[in-house]
Amino acid sequence: MGHPIGHTKSPVFQQAGLDELGIKETFEAWDVAPEDLEEEVKTFRDEGFLASCVTLPHKQAVIPLVDELTDAAEAVGAVNWIFNRDGILVGHNTDGSGFLRALKEKAGFDPAGADAVVFGAGGAARAIVYALKNAGVNRLTIANRTVEKASVLASEFSEGRFKPVACGMSRDELADHVPYATLLVNTTSLGMAGGPAEMATPVTSELISAEATGYDAVYAPPMTQFLREVEKAGGDTAGGITMLVYQGIEGFEMATGQKAPVDVMFAAIEAALKADS
Ligand code: ATR
Repeated sequence: MGHPIGHTKSPVFQQAGLDELGIKETFEAWDVAPEDLEEEVKTFRDEGFLASCVTLPHKQAVIPLVDELTDAAEAVGAVNWIFNRDGILVGHNTDGSGFLRALKEKAGFDPAGADAVVFGAGGAARAIVYALKNAGVNRLTIANRTVEKASVLASEFSEGRFKPVACGMSRDELADHVPYATLLVNTTSLGMAGGPAEMATPVTSELISAEATGYDAVYAPPMTQFLREVEKAGGDTAGGITMLVYQGIEGFEMATGQKAPVDVMFAAIEAALKADS
């Protein structure tokens, strides 16, 4: 469920996964206008659909329409999957766990004990900060153009020894944090295709450690200026569609109770993207 939904590649890779496992279910894309959301969630419940992937602009609006929230959905404040457990709707969020799995599988990076910088303080940053906290990151800096938003996010997730630091995006402020980080994550829209700042990056190579892994939540284009800067510094990179696909894979596994055929699902989406270009 999303709106608009025309661009979504979810049906392609979800259906490929279902078919590969011989599961006789169909993944449908529902274009749901905001005013129809309540009615469509009711249809989903009453007709016994198994699970729903929820995307923009419904990830918050759907919260009061489900019966239960998992800890992840509660902490992130957004639902990207609903599971229909015999008429009880459970709202969950796999953006954070999908990010961790993408980082592990595609960059071989385990954030436990790492020093990390997250650029941005919007919805994607929230899911990633939640995930990094759970993964046992050591020090975390949240850098955002609007520092106040970074401060709010940092204090919301502060707990015990885990105290994220907030800062702005000026070079001077970043110089106090970025060179010491082994993980850099861009969640801002800087570098996004079609946006006003396609060639922009939150940080440039001279501040980046050669030991760093850079992850970009921006997936179009697959190689952003930020990832080029990380490469130039000698670091490793990951991003592209990996977070998008792994959030779907995590939901697929919870919906079906089976291990997802990850390679088949990635091959399906890569073929669809190639056919588009
Ligand atoms: P998402 O849900 O994808 O995280 P969002 O909530 O709209 O999207 O957040 C966009 C992020 O990109 C914000 O951190 C935003 O910074 P502000 O909080 O200061 O608005 C950041 N962003 C967008 N355009 C930017 C720009 N030109 N320079 C720096 N940061 C930018």
